[in-house]
Amino acid sequence: MPIHPFRLITQATIQQILSRIDIIDVVGSFVKLKKRGMNYLGLCPFHNEKSPSFTVSPNKEIYKCFGCGKSGNTISFIMEHEKYSYVEALKWLANRYNVEVEETEVSAEVRAQQQVADSLYILNSFAQQYFSRVLFEDEEGQDIGLSYLKERGFSESILQKFQVGYCKESRNAFVQEAVAKQYNRDLLVKSGLAANRNEELVDNYRGRIIFPVHNTTGKVIGFGARIIKKNDKAPKYINTPENEIYIKSRILYGMYFARQVIDKFDECLLVEGYTDVVSLHQAGIENVVASGGTSLTTDQIRLVRKYTNNLTIIYDGDSAGIKAALRGLDMALEEGLNVKLVLIPDKEDPDSYVNKVGADAFREFIATNKKDFILFQLEVALKDAAGDSQKKATVVNQIAETLAKINKAEDFTRQQDYIRQCAQLLNIEENGLNNLVNKFIRERVSKQEAKWQADFTEADNEMPPPLEYDAGSDEGFQLLIKDELQERAVVKALIEFGGKPWDETSKVADHIFNELAENDLFDNSQLLDVINTYKLWYDAGLEPTAKNFFYHENQALSTVVVSLLEFPYEVSEKWRNKFQMPVSSREESYKEEVLATLGYLKLRKIKRMMMENQADLGKPHSADEQLTLLQTHQALKQMEREILLHYGTVIMR
Ligand code: CTP
Ligand code: MN
Repeated sequence: MPIHPFRLITQATIQQILSRIDIIDVVGSFVKLKKRGMNYLGLCPFHNEKSPSFTVSPNKEIYKCFGCGKSGNTISFIMEHEKYSYVEALKWLANRYNVEVEETEVSAEVRAQQQVADSLYILNSFAQQYFSRVLFEDEEGQDIGLSYLKERGFSESILQKFQVGYCKESRNAFVQEAVAKQYNRDLLVKSGLAANRNEELVDNYRGRIIFPVHNTTGKVIGFGARIIKKNDKAPKYINTPENEIYIKSRILYGMYFARQVIDKFDECLLVEGYTDVVSLHQAGIENVVASGGTSLTTDQIRLVRKYTNNLTIIYDGDSAGIKAALRGLDMALEEGLNVKLVLIPDKEDPDSYVNKVGADAFREFIATNKKDFILFQLEVALKDAAGDSQKKATVVNQIAETLAKINKAEDFTRQQDYIRQCAQLLNIEENGLNNLVNKFIRERVSKQEAKWQADFTEADNEMPPPLEYDAGSDEGFQLLIKDELQERAVVKALIEFGGKPWDETSKVADHIFNELAENDLFDNSQLLDVINTYKLWYDAGLEPTAKNFFYHENQALSTVVVSLLEFPYEVSEKWRNKFQMPVSSREESYKEEVLATLGYLKLRKIKRMMMENQADLGKPHSADEQLTLLQTHQALKQMEREILLHYGTVIMR
C-alpha cells in the first residue's frame, strides 16, 4: 500500500515566510484593491457583489468582508481562495517570496518515497507537454487525434485547458524522447507511461487520446488514455497504475478545475467519465468532477466535503456505474452529505446529452429532475421486491438503517420528513418505521459512546503521537465537521477575545474556563489541545493571540488555529435564525458573542441528550420507565428553553 508522502516545513521557514509576506501584495494579486484611508477596499472574491465591501488592513495584516463576513489573514486568504491546505498555502507563498522551503528530516524510507514522488511529478509534466504538442502540432496528432476530438465537438481551447494530448501509434516515440532527456527507465514503467516488453520499453498509450489527471494543486499525477479506433480486444481506457502519487481512491477527475466553482455554487456534480467532465466544462457547467465509474470512497467524499455538502450524481439511466455509485452512498449520508440523483434519459450520457440539447436545456433538466437519493433508493428496492413480502421486510429494515444514519441533531426534522415519506411509499405505519429507525439509532449511539470512551482512554495513556502532516487529508478542513462547529466557535472566541475584560474582576478567558470546567462539552481533542495550550500560557501570565499559535512548534495545532480563522460566520447566523437570537455586530459585542457560542455548545449537549432519550422512548418499556423517560424529555426541554431565554435576554439587553 502506498504511504502518502509528507514532510514538515520547519518553523524557521514558516517564520521567514511570515516575515516577508505582504497582505496587500498577496490579496492584490487576486482582487483589485483601492486605497481608502488606512485600509484597502475591493470587490469580495468570496461572494458576488456590485459595490465593494471587502476590506484589507495592511497594519493588522487581515482582511474582512462586510458583505459575507469572511475574514482572515494572508495564509487563510490563500487557503480559502485557492482551496489549499495550510502546507500548500505556505509553499505557494514561499515560492512567491523566494523563500527556500526547508523541511525537517524524515526517515530514509519516507525521503526515498518523496524523491520518487517528485520525480514522477516532473516526468508526468514532461509527458503531458509532449502529448499535447503531438496533438496540436504533429501531423499524425492532428489527422487522427485532433480530428477525432473535433468531430466529437470539443473546441481547441477546452482541450488546451484540460491539457489533452495524443500518443502516436509508433512503438516507442515517447519513450525515445524521454530516454534522451535522461528519464530513468524504472520510473517510466512506474509512471505507466511505458511498458516493459521483453526488456524493451514501449509506449503504453499507443494511438490513444491522453487525458491528464491533476491533483487539486494542478500537478499532473497520471493519465487516462482512450482508444480511438474501435477494438474489441483492447481496453477502452488504459489508466495509470497506482504509484506514489496516483492513488485512485483519492482522486476525482477534474477537481482542480472545478473546486472554486463548486464552492461558489455550493454544489458538486458527479459524472462517470473524462469526456463528460470536459464536455460540461465546455458548455459552461464547471462544478463537475468524475469518479471513473467506480463506487465512491470515503476519501473522495471527504474531498467533495471540503467544498460543499451538496452532491448531485448525474448518470445515464442504464449505466452499470449507477449501481456502483449507489453502493458508496450510505457512507456519504454518514458524512452529512446531501445526495441527489439525476438520470440522463434515452441511452445518452452527460457528454452526448449536453451536446444534443445545449447548456441551458441541460441545466434545466438537472434542476427539474433531481431526485432525492434516499427516496430513489427505496423506489428501486421496492420495484425489486414487488409482491414478495419477505423481500419487502428486508427493504423496510434497510431503509430504517439508512435513515438512522442521518444522525446530526440538527437534522432531526429532516429525518422525520423522510420517515413520513418512506412510510407512505412502503405503505406501512409511520410509527412502526419510527420505532425501527430508533432501534438503529440506539445501536449506533451506544457503539459511538464505546468508541469515544476508547478514544479518550487512549489519549490519556499514550505518548503524544509523532508530529506528522498529511497534506492529502488536510486536518484543518476535516475539522469542519458539522458537530464541531460549536466547539470551534468557542475556541475562536477564546483566542479572539480571551484577554478582554469580562467584568470588573475577570477576563473573558476566565469566564470561558469556568463554563467549560463544569461539563465535558468538547469532543474534539485537537480543539481541546488549543484550549489547554491557551490555558497554560494564560496561567503563566501571557495573553495569547492567534499569532502565538501560528508560531507554535506543533504544526497540527497551528493548522487548527489557522482553520479557525476561516470559521464561517454564516453558520452562526444560521443558528441565530434557528434559535431566534438577535444578530449583533461582532466587533463591539464580544461578550454577546462569547455568551452565544457557549450557549450553542450547551444547547448541542442538551439536543444530544434529547436525541438519545428519544431513541430510548422507542423501546418497549414498563409504564414506570416510560414515565421516567417522558419526564426526562420534559426536563431537557425545559433546560433548552432556559438556555435560549437566558442567552436570548442577555443578548437583547
Ligand atoms: N473507464 C475505465 N476503463 C475502461 C472503461 C471506462 O477506466 N475500460 C472509466 C474512465 O474513467 C471513463 C469512465 O470509466 O471515463 C466512464 O466510461 P465510459 O462512459 O465508457 O467512457 P467515457 O469517458 O465517457 O468515454 P466516451 O464518452 O468516449 O464513451
Ligand atoms: Mn461516456
